[in-house]
Amino acid sequence: MSVRVVIGAQFGDEAKGKISDELAATARYVVRTSGGPNAGHTIHPPGGKVVLHQLSAGVLRPETVGISGPGMVIEPFKLRTEIEELERQGFLRGSFYLSDRAHVILPLHEIQDGWEDDLRARKNPGAGLGTTRRGIGPAYADRTARFGLRLGELARPDLVAERLGLLYETKRHLPDLPSMEKLKGRLLEVGQYLAPHIRAVEPILWTAIERGEGIVLEGAQSALLDLDFGTYPYVTSSHPTSAGALIGSGLPPQVIDEVIGVAKGYATRVGTGPFPTEVQGEAGERLQRLGGEFGATTGRPRRCGWLDLVLLRYAARLNGFTSLALTKVDVLAGLTEVPICVEYRLADGSRLYDRPPTAAEEFQSVTPVYETLPGWPEFTDRLRERLAHEGAPALPRELRGFIEYVAHASGIPVQFVAYGPDRGATVRLDRRAGGRSLRSGLVPWSH
Ligand code: GDP
Ligand code: IMO
Ligand code: MG
Repeated sequence: MSVRVVIGAQFGDEAKGKISDELAATARYVVRTSGGPNAGHTIHPPGGKVVLHQLSAGVLRPETVGISGPGMVIEPFKLRTEIEELERQGFLRGSFYLSDRAHVILPLHEIQDGWEDDLRARKNPGAGLGTTRRGIGPAYADRTARFGLRLGELARPDLVAERLGLLYETKRHLPDLPSMEKLKGRLLEVGQYLAPHIRAVEPILWTAIERGEGIVLEGAQSALLDLDFGTYPYVTSSHPTSAGALIGSGLPPQVIDEVIGVAKGYATRVGTGPFPTEVQGEAGERLQRLGGEFGATTGRPRRCGWLDLVLLRYAARLNGFTSLALTKVDVLAGLTEVPICVEYRLADGSRLYDRPPTAAEEFQSVTPVYETLPGWPEFTDRLRERLAHEGAPALPRELRGFIEYVAHASGIPVQFVAYGPDRGATVRLDRRAGGRSLRSGLVPWSH
């Protein structure tokens, strides 16, 4: 059994939840490795739709264990609501563990998140990040500053009181902070509720590897939102890369068998920041409408645009993708031509092929150069039936051309193609189809 890492290759919402759910069918553990309630991972198991925020896809299958890992920041009250809602819907079928090392997001962090983003926007209207206002950045900042409270510490009233005391001292400038005493009481109570699930998870994963049990590391956010390698400062405050998945799970690098980059056949972004292939007008609205491109967490409309191979090549190098999952190809169906960005042209006439400029301002002003590929027909019921029975060979010819193009241009073979939100609406390609084989993908950017 293998250890497979699922990483967002664009700006988030690539359908990492759906792909992790498919992989979960042959795994024992599914581990969320970073972020917190800023994530919204939509999964359509038979009989319904689930949006997971702080639990991993492993909780949906009776044979799997969902783990919320050490690299996460967890808002315990929202987590309780998520658990209760899943139970009510009858979808909480696997068991779940919560890492005792994960940090706690407090109401103070949410207030700070909103206050800080408003401050940025007041100083410069274009500079607000458009965060999810879930307290992610401030909670990670307190973790780094060593003021943070960890999930495992909720069982110790003395420690909770001490940390809260410190945190309130550092946040006196914030408006409308809740009463510290009341918050302490609520934290101890929710800590008791979560206690049966809180434990050291990394020894469980190490043992699983020794036993040969399958593990999926379910990344949240995406490579382009990485704190260091994303479009800083328009990023999240964690490391949603394959390197971050190791830190966020406690697994060492040599146990990783596959790193699967998830990319839509087009691109979306929520919040502000560079997005060279964004398209306005009818074409953008069409993607938004057909793709249902509204945030799974905040409900905000997602900005839409075309697939960007420069960023895909960059994400491939950064994460060491061994294969790609290309999702939502049904949304592009019916177009006569499908544009793909193949390189950037800069103001001085130079070109960039496999990485964006480091500075967000420069990134914002590149000119994308497009090639267009022939479009493919709509996904009729008959085509869906054929795909379910015959698999990849039933994919329309033009779509196979698109897949081959993406594989060759990125140097990464396409392993999965998703053509609908439902579980099962995914075909698996021969791993050697397109690009290089999994392990020889060591230099995916050379061509
Ligand atoms: P994640 O954050 O990466 O897990 O992705 P989200 O759940 O935020 O967004 C993906 C959206 O696309 C969800 O509404 C999914 O149900 C939907 N979806 C996933 N795969 C497909 C697909 O292949 N086709 C279509 N049409 N929708 C999909
Ligand atoms: P999933 O896992 C899309 C974006 C926010 C904002 C920036 C910083 O569902 O793909 P934060 O609240 O993290 O400080 O916000 O990052 N963002 C996401 N965009 N999908 C996500 O998660 C995101 N998580 C954060 O919109 O621009
Ligand atoms: Mg999402």
